[in-house]
Amino acid sequence: MRKPLIAGNWKMNLLIGEAVKLVNELKPLVAGVNGAEIVVCPVFTALHTVGQALKGANIAMGGQNCYLKESGAFTGEISPQMLLDAGCTWTIIGHSERRQYFNETDQVLNQKLKFALASGLKVMFCVGETLDERESGKMDEVLTRQVLHGLAGLAESDFARAAIAYEPVWAIGTGKTATPQQAQDAHAFIRGLVKKQFGETVAGSVRIQYGGSVKSDNAAELMVKPDVDGALVGGASLKAQSFADIVKNSVL
Ligand code: 13P
Repeated sequence: MRKPLIAGNWKMNLLIGEAVKLVNELKPLVAGVNGAEIVVCPVFTALHTVGQALKGANIAMGGQNCYLKESGAFTGEISPQMLLDAGCTWTIIGHSERRQYFNETDQVLNQKLKFALASGLKVMFCVGETLDERESGKMDEVLTRQVLHGLAGLAESDFARAAIAYEPVWAIGTGKTATPQQAQDAHAFIRGLVKKQFGETVAGSVRIQYGGSVKSDNAAELMVKPDVDGALVGGASLKAQSFADIVKNSVL
């Protein structure tokens, strides 16, 4: 059984006070939930304070990105060790916005993934095709490249701490969710790639989250699909009630 992993990616939103208010509202709403693993990913400046507010709660915290070195002359970057120090147990790596706006390549993302895992973080590693790529029949090729290059060199044991997030770029922030069948097809394809590369045990245990306009009213129909093991939620994670409803609707 793969426990659903429901994470809120707050992206570049919420000041520290707003972030704390959100988690303080969220905590009682999800307090009784133990059928899903819940994570929030605030901006870096809010991490420490949010981490304090989450003490004792059933909500973990993650960064949205991190660099592939522990420390040094890398202006503007943050290391996995710094995320851990601020109270994170997770990080997102390879979000399509990082790939698109900050030119992060499969090779760099692979290094980041390996370094974050080696540093002790758990990672949600994002993949997903653009609308152009889907419509021109390149979806399988793009997902194959992102998954095989992105996960290259991982050991079987790494997958205890690595999840994959399938986020079709055309569904992110557009209100245009993939249909449950489109999500299932892509997830099954990704699981097949993992099976070919890392074997049946890893493929059977690795969680694949869906991301892209997940809302409380579509979470259940996505989550019921056999290869959909959670959600990576953007906009709808910025309101405590809607994120809590997604969490609850994801527990089958
Ligand atoms: P939305 O839920 O706002 O579409 O964002 C999805 C996403 O990018 C999560 O990482």
